[in-house]
Amino acid sequence: MSDTWWRNAVIYQIYPRSFADTNGDGVGDIAGITRRIGHLASLGVDAVWLSPFYPSPWADGGYDVADFRDVDPLLGTLADFDELVAAAHGHGIKVIVDIVPNHTSEQHPWFREALAAPPGSPARERYIFRDGRGPDGSLPPSNWESRFGGPAWTRLPDGQWYLHLFAREQPDLNWTNPEVRAEFVDILRFWSRRGVDGFRIDVANSLFKDLNEPLRDVVVIPKGSGLEDIAANPDHPHWDRPEVHEVYREWRQVFEEFDPPRVAVAEAWLPNDRLVRYLRPDELHQAFNFEFLRCPWDATAYRRVIDASIAFTASVGTVATWVLSNHDVVRPVSVLGLPTGTDLNAWLLSDGAEPPADVELGRRRARAAALLELALPGSTYVYQGEELGLPEVADLPAEVLQDPQWERTGHTAKGRDGCRVPIPWERSGPSLGFGQAPGWLPQPPGWAELSVEAQTGDPGSTLELYRTALRVRREFRADESFAWDEKYDEGDVLAFTRGEHVLVLVNTGSDPVTLPDAEVLVSSAPLSDGTLPADTAVWLRR
Ligand code: NOJ
Ligand code: CA
Repeated sequence: MSDTWWRNAVIYQIYPRSFADTNGDGVGDIAGITRRIGHLASLGVDAVWLSPFYPSPWADGGYDVADFRDVDPLLGTLADFDELVAAAHGHGIKVIVDIVPNHTSEQHPWFREALAAPPGSPARERYIFRDGRGPDGSLPPSNWESRFGGPAWTRLPDGQWYLHLFAREQPDLNWTNPEVRAEFVDILRFWSRRGVDGFRIDVANSLFKDLNEPLRDVVVIPKGSGLEDIAANPDHPHWDRPEVHEVYREWRQVFEEFDPPRVAVAEAWLPNDRLVRYLRPDELHQAFNFEFLRCPWDATAYRRVIDASIAFTASVGTVATWVLSNHDVVRPVSVLGLPTGTDLNAWLLSDGAEPPADVELGRRRARAAALLELALPGSTYVYQGEELGLPEVADLPAEVLQDPQWERTGHTAKGRDGCRVPIPWERSGPSLGFGQAPGWLPQPPGWAELSVEAQTGDPGSTLELYRTALRVRREFRADESFAWDEKYDEGDVLAFTRGEHVLVLVNTGSDPVTLPDAEVLVSSAPLSDGTLPADTAVWLRR
């Protein structure tokens, strides 16, 4: 593969503790990924992105990192990691690891040192400590809120406050400190030398904050994503500060030290005009397309998002990405089976009862959406379980919830555990082949039939749909050309050509439409009488 492999890749996201468990402790591990590497090879993915596996107290699913250069003993060892990289590379699969630069775990040696050191000491300068407001300093230094609910500041017994944009256990680093900058450059080199092919940058639009005194309050958007925050606060004090781009320019040079150059994908919930700045030729390679992830099942909305995504990425010489889900959002099989605009948080709080999701419809649409995204020019990110058509597990009982959002919001947001339930591999066993014991989250009844074993060889299964699509996609993916088809693209039907010969049609409406006479490469549902049924996508060869 060339240095530009990432321009048309399928990258599979692994959430390690939910993928495969080899030692029967109920938690997925690195060796489990190696053991199941054949699944990824037969699926036909180009790369895997591993969510954090580093030593961590797991206060935020491993995004609270205590040591950026090791493997959590719960998940294995560095030797296991090296074996995984070798196994993946043996199958021609690249490996991308998660870099979490905005914060560390409270258990990171730096933060422990900071807590033991007095206010104003160099150890505290690696983080963001401030005195409080009010006569006795008992009010937080600003009104900034944690993304997981509650204030973004926590007070220490000595009276100072520290900043954490996420959980209390995730203190934010001070990116104006040269030591912090040097540390991350070294971490990137550490994993690059170990053979990783790229990095996923966690909250890439954070890192720097406007800390000029007095700190500016923000307009708080309850339950909004970063997109809404920025809309309400265009000069936001802690999202998307301009200084962050210097860091990515420096990192790009580090990536270029290696052969082939390492690549990076930004996680940044930003509108396109801001996101594009992270993708300039001397910064990061690509960014997750969250506008696509959030797009409702509506042809007009898709047209707009697709056009905008292609145009804004092309303006900086890169390619778009296509994302339906990840470990932070409700699974698309459920979302697409709910009325457009359903409040997903309220839906989760009702254990998925209000309103009930039409899973069959949702899966039908999710399959069509998969063919849509896999046909578009650029890279596609697939979250583990998407290829099995797994729905969200909305009715996890409160006792098993681990997402910090549940506690931090005073039980008003259930959080993200419902998309992190261990993968069903086989029809039987205490966790359906995930491991020799029940997994850390319970799998719902009925998942045996969604297992890899049950779906393999069934031509109507979602797994075989993905396998076919990924195989066929190789024929046209290198040609980045894309054009709406003048004849068929209309109303509820999306139609576009890829390369010279592939015509893609997606029917988001409720009426069947007549298909042109052409060879069917793959379709998301059976076609009948030369028509494309409702909620179905097809790739044709002309
Ligand atoms: C984004 C990650 O995807 C999410 O899981 C995590 O909670 C936050 N960043 C904080 O690291
Ligand atoms: Ca395990």
